[in-house]
Amino acid sequence: MSENIKKLTAQYNNYIYPKPCEDIENEWLIKNRYQTCDPNYHWHKLWPEFPYKREKMNILVAGCGSDQAAVLAKCNPIHSFIGIDLSENSLNHQKKLIKKHNIKNLKLICDDFRNQKFDKKFDYIISSGVIHHLDNPNTALKFFNDNLTNHGVLFLMVYGNQQSDLIKGLKEVFKKFEFTQDKESVGNIKNIIEKLHKNHPSKLFLNQFNDFVYDAGVVDIFLHPKEKFYSLSSSIKELEENNFLIKNFVDGKVAAITKYIIDNPNLLKKFKEFNLEQQLDIAQMLNWNDRKIEVICTKIQNKKYSKLYNKIILDDIFTYAFQNIRYKFETDRIEMINVKDGTNFKFNVDNDGADWKKILSGQYKLKNLLNSLSDKKKKNLYNLIEFLIENYLLDFSFHKIEDYKKYYNSDKN
Ligand SMILES: C[S@@+](CC[C@H](N)C(=O)[O-])C[C@H]1O[C@@H](n2cnc3c(N)ncnc32)[C@H](O)[C@@H]1O
Repeated sequence: MSENIKKLTAQYNNYIYPKPCEDIENEWLIKNRYQTCDPNYHWHKLWPEFPYKREKMNILVAGCGSDQAAVLAKCNPIHSFIGIDLSENSLNHQKKLIKKHNIKNLKLICDDFRNQKFDKKFDYIISSGVIHHLDNPNTALKFFNDNLTNHGVLFLMVYGNQQSDLIKGLKEVFKKFEFTQDKESVGNIKNIIEKLHKNHPSKLFLNQFNDFVYDAGVVDIFLHPKEKFYSLSSSIKELEENNFLIKNFVDGKVAAITKYIIDNPNLLKKFKEFNLEQQLDIAQMLNWNDRKIEVICTKIQNKKYSKLYNKIILDDIFTYAFQNIRYKFETDRIEMINVKDGTNFKFNVDNDGADWKKILSGQYKLKNLLNSLSDKKKKNLYNLIEFLIENYLLDFSFHKIEDYKKYYNSDKN
């Protein structure tokens, strides 16, 4: 076992992460919360090329922490889950959840996931907040590729390299003080941070995350033995080295871009001349919301299904309301509010004749919905829809999007 794995095992045994859920019913289901990697809720983002299916999938949660696999298994009883983690204490908490909720579709393994051999490949692999702590993240990506079916999807969360910069200086100070992962150091960190000026950049960082309120979070943020921070271009490179590419982003937190320049055609033209990696690095910088970069990846041979590498033929798609966006329509204006982060977008657009209820329903092929409009109106609306998709304000699939909410926490076929 490498020194780093020993350290990670000790850290996550002493400080199980995240602060664990005690009751999945109360903390997730009743609140209608779902994981950003949930296979039911995000089917159309994970597999826009396939119609929604109620068939059992084999799902691996690599580095499943204190509750992630149990929450996913409880919310998706139809699928079969394996959760692997280095930390026995984290898994012990998941075992409590399994017992409490009588979860039957989750197997837990305490190990470095890279040591495991499986007879069957997985349809879906989830690994969030894990590979950026390894000596060589490539070893994990290779393992994921080897263990994924041809059409399988990898959900990956890694740290971005912009937002986390706000706490870099503070981390160096804590190193100089020789803080370790003991309770005294954690207490010292909390005390110092409490006294920082409200405009200190680290406060700006910490105010955005809940992690700082419990010890495991403090250790995770400030005292990690190993972390790597990614630009989008560097993550694409690392993925490519392991036969993966990005298929989609979970949301526009990091990758939405043309909304910043849509009112300036020259800038837009210049921007479109950059290659994809350059465009995404610009997006990451402008959005600057990259502590957690959440990407949906596929094997390189499935490039044709990636939102990033293909121009989406609007005639072929079904469009769907984006989670967390509330839409308001007037005849000459459309307004969108992101209920998660409060951002608000307003566009002046000729809405006359557009049936937004249907456009947002996922039930109609766009071509069929807009057929009756004049060419000019249709073109305007297509431009708007392209823009909304580009900026993660509207979702799409090549198939009808089911009302999958009714299947959440259900084993109905
Ligand atoms: C930051 S936590 C994230 C937990 C979980 N994925 C979530 O999002 O809630 C990282 C977890 O990955 C586990 N981990 C890190 N490297 C691992 C490895 N090589 N094999 C298995 N587990 C690992 C750690 O023990 C820890 O519980």
